[in-house]
Amino acid sequence: QNEPPLVPYWIPFIGSAITMGIDPIKFYRDRQKEGNNLVFNAKLADASAEEAYRSLTVPVFGKGVVYDVHNSVLMEQKKFVKAGLSVENLRAYIPMIEMETKNYLSRWNKKSDVQDIHKAMAELIILTASRCLLVAQIFHDLDGGFKPINFLFDDLPLPSNRLRDKAHVKMRHFFIDIMKHRRDTGKVDSTDVMQYLATNCQYKSGRSLTDMEVAHIMIAMLMAGQHTSSTTSAWAFLYLAWNPELFDKLRQEQIEILGSLDAPLTYDSLKQLTLHNNIVRETLRLRPPILHIIRKVVRDMTIPGTTYVIPKDAYVQCIPAITARSDEFFENAEEFNPYRWKDYDLQNKEHDDDLVDYGFGALSASARSPVLPFGAGRHRCIGEPFAYVQIKTILATFVRTFNLELHNNKFPECDFTTMMVQPKHPMVKYTRVDC
Ligand code: HEM
Repeated sequence: QNEPPLVPYWIPFIGSAITMGIDPIKFYRDRQKEGNNLVFNAKLADASAEEAYRSLTVPVFGKGVVYDVHNSVLMEQKKFVKAGLSVENLRAYIPMIEMETKNYLSRWNKKSDVQDIHKAMAELIILTASRCLLVAQIFHDLDGGFKPINFLFDDLPLPSNRLRDKAHVKMRHFFIDIMKHRRDTGKVDSTDVMQYLATNCQYKSGRSLTDMEVAHIMIAMLMAGQHTSSTTSAWAFLYLAWNPELFDKLRQEQIEILGSLDAPLTYDSLKQLTLHNNIVRETLRLRPPILHIIRKVVRDMTIPGTTYVIPKDAYVQCIPAITARSDEFFENAEEFNPYRWKDYDLQNKEHDDDLVDYGFGALSASARSPVLPFGAGRHRCIGEPFAYVQIKTILATFVRTFNLELHNNKFPECDFTTMMVQPKHPMVKYTRVDC
């Protein structure tokens, strides 16, 4: 069989894992031939995300959802969530996120101080996503089960996995109890995705979701958004701290669009905050939190346009971050420049019919795009509009009160050993604008 050539390595079994782990961007840049398309648009019969992610996700999300079900069921579940995150609901979330952010930031009450921006964003994202402090500790334990080692082994008897299992059961009951309470009392929150899933969704078979499925989808959503959005926000603030002149520019933009820095943030006004949007986009171009997109090959798979065959049971993966920071597509690609997006969109809109909704990201389903922080194809993220609403609202609220500088003037390096690419020592110094 004509297998693709192996990357040369010295140590048997471990192969290139160590060189790749230390600097995956360099590793893949050196051998980026296959392209993102092979992975994102692989046929279902050839390569499976379920097989690649199941051992990591099923103990955390629970049974009957996402990678524990046939891909066609996942596709239905994704449609339910997408419909639950309607524009109408997103509209209602903005004042909630603004209020949670203000409450959280009221703790930063000194004139100036040093803070860990990644820790702060992790707290703010779970607070704003769940709007409920009660789930935070359970969430922390559940999250402990989200470790790279669980990609490889099904269910090691690790203390973190025991805590994960307990936390999973608590979270499931937490959601099921709320549903039961709402049914008993008739009290319903109409903007709430959980309510939408419980009452408005039916599989093609005609069956509604069980309470357990709803609870597990809720856990999956919180997990899917937590590290992705918190690391993105942390990197965005670090880039701002590195380019502090942007704080004034952001405030100017708000005054221009909203009239003042006291005006309430709304869906429509937030949509027009182009610089805010482009800061998030540029951060995602340079620091997409999910680096490796992985599929397990489920039958021998020929690489299109070649005679190479990838054997069954091998894993294929791509890192879209490589094309995203390639000079072939972006001038001075390594440089953080939120202004580059204006021209980029003008040039690319006519080639990419799928590019829509510019105010909250740039939704493109095309795997041909060089920037794919939310993936492409059948497994593409459905959380992008929510993530943009959440991060832009936090950003817009934050800059009204604070300026940031890098602590010790050093831009943090990437930690590639964690599930998401996190900043090492992400310390910033804040100063209140009114001081
Ligand atoms: C899938 C990134 C936020 C829910 C994905 C994928 C990526 C991604 C790259 C594709 C994975 C693959 O192909 O293997 C991100 C980023 C986010 C974010 C960068 C924030 C900045 C969210 C949020 C939610 C969410 C807030 C939930 C509300 C999902 C779901 C999938 C997905 C359900 C589909 C999984 C599948 O079909 O296999 N995300 N995500 N994500 N994401 Fe997100």
